[in-house]
Amino acid sequence: MPTTVVVGLQWGDEGKGKMVHNLSESATAVARFSGGANAGHTVRLGDSDLVLHQVPTGLVHPGVRAFVGTGCVLDPIALSEELQSLAEAGINVGDRLRISSKVHLVHPVYRALEEMEEKKRGGGAIGTTLRAIGPTYVEKFSRRGIRLEDAACESAFREAVRAQTERGLDILDLPADRCSEIRRRSELFTDLSLDLVELAGDVSLDLMEILENGGLVMAEGAQGTLLDPDHGTYPYVTCGSCVSGAASISLGIGPASIDEVVGVVKAYCSRVGAGPFPTELKDETGDMLREKGHEYGATTGRPRRCGWLDGVLLRYASRLNGCHWLALTMLDVLSGFDPLRVCTRYELDPESDVPLFETGKRLGKHRPVFEDLPGWEDDIAGTTSWDDLPEQARRYVLRIEELVGVPVRAISTGPAQNDLIWRSA
Ligand code: IMP
Repeated sequence: MPTTVVVGLQWGDEGKGKMVHNLSESATAVARFSGGANAGHTVRLGDSDLVLHQVPTGLVHPGVRAFVGTGCVLDPIALSEELQSLAEAGINVGDRLRISSKVHLVHPVYRALEEMEEKKRGGGAIGTTLRAIGPTYVEKFSRRGIRLEDAACESAFREAVRAQTERGLDILDLPADRCSEIRRRSELFTDLSLDLVELAGDVSLDLMEILENGGLVMAEGAQGTLLDPDHGTYPYVTCGSCVSGAASISLGIGPASIDEVVGVVKAYCSRVGAGPFPTELKDETGDMLREKGHEYGATTGRPRRCGWLDGVLLRYASRLNGCHWLALTMLDVLSGFDPLRVCTRYELDPESDVPLFETGKRLGKHRPVFEDLPGWEDDIAGTTSWDDLPEQARRYVLRIEELVGVPVRAISTGPAQNDLIWRSA
């Protein structure tokens, strides 16, 4: 009964979309277990890219079933747009998508509440994606949230949504035209949520049936370990759990049914939004990484901050997730950078060495200690064999394995599905 969990080990944007797309070809089901419309999972279909936000990446394979777990937050308006773009890309969703009836819904007034919160934070703003992820989880844990199953009873649902709209508008104190716009979107939200009831179900039950029948389930994480609200760089984090353990909670499958955890790692680091980033490059090299790696947010289009690979961070993230193996992505982007720098430990002020990865306020003050590795000139884009990689590239990969203590089994060398090197166990 195998379940494989795929998680990001940095600050998101590691290339999970491509890896899940690859690994799920022979899966029975792919299940998203965290986040919502803040995510942007890119898959290459032919010559064009498709960005998925809320639905599991496995949907692009005909015949693979897709689930959205209870631990996600669902924006029905954004979902309807996403399903439309899937239809335009020729992907027939049919009855393959099932959403947990217990999932919390992103009410349109939450976006305005998040904008207000971010504004109030001033220089300390989190730099969220403004997809109202935070406010939805806040409502959930305040035990005032709206769940998809509530829409099964139309009159009570309409009343609950209306009450939520007015409660939000009271807090916001917006001009009349914005209030009317939010009320209009709340109506749309209500209608679309009512339509979604037919997709709602017991994800836990469905997945257990699949597993008992010998099926393969791929649990698709969102964001990255360092954005996890418990284990990430709090308060500069998202609100949905990003670590592998969350798959069990969100999907309602016992921890013992998880067999394998795959950590996706970008060959360098990037981060969008505010917060500490010890190996950040605020210079021309950082700009080059951004341009070569097309490091602009798949959801918001924001330029990503870029920096060298952080081995301390990776070791920490791999331990938290219990990774069995790593998929290394974007290795081709590093062609032409020489030397390549990898952070192997931190120094906090000169007097105290910090061997452990800390996520609190001191992290921003750590000085990364780098090891230099030789780079390579040859363009390795599209390479599919380990032996065809330049020796320096192989050394870089082997050093990552050593630093993390986990094997690198897959190496992505370009955006296309087949730009991938598989290494045997
Ligand atoms: P939120 O998830 O919109 O609340 O944003 C909180 C933090 O997580 C911000 O720094 C965002 O930029 C970051 N974030 C959220 N989703 C993603 C993602 O899919 N990739 C990378 N960063 C993300």
